[in-house]
Amino acid sequence: MLFEPIVTGGCRSYLIGCPDTCAAAVIDPEISQTDRYLGLAAREGLRIHYLIDTHTHADHFSATHKLARRLQVPVVMHRTSPAPFVDMRLNDGEMLVVGKLRLQAMHTPGHTRDSMCLRVEDCLFTGDTLLIGATGRTDLPTGDPEALYDSLFRCILKLDPTLKVFPAHDYGGRGESTLARELAENPRLRQHERAMFVETMLSLNLTMPTHITEALRTNMSGGKTVEQMLAEAAAAVPFMSLAELKARVEAADTELVVLDVRERDAYESGHVPGAHLLPRGQLELRVNQDLPDPTQRILTCCELGRISTLAAATLRQLGFMHAVALDGGMKAWREAGYPLRPGVRP
Ligand SMILES: [Fe+2]
Repeated sequence: MLFEPIVTGGCRSYLIGCPDTCAAAVIDPEISQTDRYLGLAAREGLRIHYLIDTHTHADHFSATHKLARRLQVPVVMHRTSPAPFVDMRLNDGEMLVVGKLRLQAMHTPGHTRDSMCLRVEDCLFTGDTLLIGATGRTDLPTGDPEALYDSLFRCILKLDPTLKVFPAHDYGGRGESTLARELAENPRLRQHERAMFVETMLSLNLTMPTHITEALRTNMSGGKTVEQMLAEAAAAVPFMSLAELKARVEAADTELVVLDVRERDAYESGHVPGAHLLPRGQLELRVNQDLPDPTQRILTCCELGRISTLAAATLRQLGFMHAVALDGGMKAWREAGYPLRPGVRP
């Protein structure tokens, strides 16, 4: 089996492939690594057939939906996944065939109701059911410590102890383990008694993952993250550097319209000399009145360079094909000591 673990902070995803047939699957892909999965698959001569999430992630942004639409291949999750975009729903005991590989699905609720583990040859992809030196938490939506106890002690831990364990998270950077090693060393598994195990899980008092609201929203709906929206806008517009704009302002470049898309009070406290005020929230409402010439060269700016990117992308969609965004924002402009004009535009 071809095997590539991909580490994103504490998150782990896996590209696995059949060397004989070049068929591959990605387990728990993460959105920021989208190009990496495609690059690795191309480098290894693999074609990805399935995008698999072991469960509904609350702590990372899944790339299954985006990659599946791009590659025209199915998103695979457990039958109980709430995500409407899942193309293939596996039941306990079913298999996914990837070339000559057989991915055996086991329903292992507890961390979430839709958690599953996948056994492939001598590897066990445990999602967040079993981590190295820990288990998945059970205090997030649909978590259940009783169910996790059953999934671990009545299912996973009864498998061949020589199986290698590959979880969806490894916060300690320990990389690889086996079931035997976890049975011997994992402190959470020392509580063989159901009541003690449940008690331990209920008293962990963990902080909520960052971005949990956005992760659940996007992973359960297939919607986009704010970062995705910004990245797509940034890919659709050219940028101009702060230094280039400063040079053009000093040279009194009359061809370039600087469009400040912040709110009025921010604009009035200091703006690029000659900049026009058109807040992002009014862009579509006032575009015809304020920007009658679609051939005009327009540069959008905002406080941090993010909203101005969205504004430039919107202008391009509206037909302003010379709209560009400032690479940076007014905060950086001020910090660079570049010229500012306070007050209301005459
Ligand atoms: Fe998780």
